[in-house]
Amino acid sequence: MEWNWNYVILSAILTLISLVWHLRRKNSYKQSKLPPGPRGWPIFGNLFDVGNFPHRSLARLKQEYGPVVWLSLGSVKILVLLSAGPVEELFKNHDLTFCDRKSNDALRSHDYINSTMLFSPYNGYLRTLRRICTSELFANKRINETTLIRQKSVDTMLSWIEQEIENGATGGILIRDFVFPALYNIIGNLTLSRDLVDPHSPIPFEFCTVLSGMLECIGRPNISDYLPWLRRLDLQGIRRNMDGYLENAIEIMSAYVKERVKQRQQNNTLPSEQRMDFLDVLLDFKGTGNDEPASLSEYQVTILLMEMFIAGVGATSNTTEWAMCELLQNPEEMKKIKAELGRVVGANNKMQDNDINNLPYLEAIIEETLRMHAPTPILFPKKTVRDTNFMGFSIPKDTQVMINNWMISRDEDKWQDPLSFKPERFLDLDINHKGRNYEFLPFGAGRRICPGIPLADRMLPLILGSLLHHFEWELCDGKKIIDMRETLGTSAKKLEPLQAIPKRKTK
Ligand code: HEM
Repeated sequence: MEWNWNYVILSAILTLISLVWHLRRKNSYKQSKLPPGPRGWPIFGNLFDVGNFPHRSLARLKQEYGPVVWLSLGSVKILVLLSAGPVEELFKNHDLTFCDRKSNDALRSHDYINSTMLFSPYNGYLRTLRRICTSELFANKRINETTLIRQKSVDTMLSWIEQEIENGATGGILIRDFVFPALYNIIGNLTLSRDLVDPHSPIPFEFCTVLSGMLECIGRPNISDYLPWLRRLDLQGIRRNMDGYLENAIEIMSAYVKERVKQRQQNNTLPSEQRMDFLDVLLDFKGTGNDEPASLSEYQVTILLMEMFIAGVGATSNTTEWAMCELLQNPEEMKKIKAELGRVVGANNKMQDNDINNLPYLEAIIEETLRMHAPTPILFPKKTVRDTNFMGFSIPKDTQVMINNWMISRDEDKWQDPLSFKPERFLDLDINHKGRNYEFLPFGAGRRICPGIPLADRMLPLILGSLLHHFEWELCDGKKIIDMRETLGTSAKKLEPLQAIPKRKTK
């Protein structure tokens, strides 16, 4: 037999590396009391255990290792939380230690990481932006003042669908093609005082495409983040794609900012109260320069505006689409919500903002949809700012934390019959999405909780309720079952867009 000596030597080296790796890991595990977790491969760690749907693959670890699991993805250390108990412990007793965000290679594109709010570390810049957003966009007073803006955009969406019926859309429409532009217009009017789009113009789809592309680049597992020495090669092309998408998104958004800056220079005699929308507030911002920035640059303003669209449109549109899917497959629940809307709104009236508080079944449908289809199945990854002791485990600084939201809100220990769509459960339970019930955190919790909840609480019921109240809906080709598979960016959306036939209500 002939020996292939190269092969023998390579095998021996790999075996040796593997042996040293496992011995070191065993020792360091004993010394540092890390949580339990599956053995990883040399160099790659548990990279191959994660796959394209981390919320599903990580869920499987609970049975063997319990609800607090340790993984290493290449050189990145990961703490995975798989049930409500440890999540409650984290938010109640360790929030400040865990409130940094994990950065990644995609976020280095165009220096995005230094202007982002969504992915910013927990610092003075982030706190300032959260404060401005909370007082200028999401405060109750502002939300009430902007009722007509939301109403107008939703009415326009209904008229687009009416038009489709007029044009004989018997093959059905893609729901997201109408909800998406309506949400763009709501956010566009709240921030820039203008409609951005309609379903037939190319801009919204270009903008949507670049924003979704960006989110996919940020959310997709990237080998460059786990094995930094491979970063320069950009093996999956994620950084290259992110550069392209971000450049495009900045070009679209910065045109609005530049136009406003020019207008303000021309109109600088106007008293400031006559030109105050969110964009003006950002351009006018003056901070102390200590814990907060002295002012915001045009680039920072552009990024923040862009992120309002990223954060506000995707999750809201996806939740509306999932809710429609569930209702179209659950005729009893569809009947009940139609009856509630008819009773409260009135058969011939349009739903209004002030109906929302009188529609408990609609609210329960939204909660149940968020429970079953968490828009962020794994909460935006957080990172420890220092070494810490968590539930008896020694967790080193810079550990990334993955909270499996998707699994927790389907946990049989907390939810009865968790895989069935049962909005009624929210009528009986004293549980809501405000960040205090740790078995249900669609908007997160603690210092990084979604600041947009008050706006989402108005947009979601108004859009979903209006679609349901204004039209009768049917699945295409007499179907009864919908393919409910999801796809992932930073938010989970339906893989196949929902197509359904709208019909005018019979009087
Ligand atoms: C269905 C609707 C929505 C859902 C499910 C949702 C969910 C979330 C989640 C899970 C987070 C991360 C929380 C964490 O890290 O623990 C987040 C953050 C954020 N959301 Fe929302 N969101 C929604 C709507 C909105 C809207 C309408 C806006 C604003 C227009 C918004 C703005 C933000 C911002 C700015 C952050 C980043 C906060 C930070 O990192 O400090 N969201 N959201």
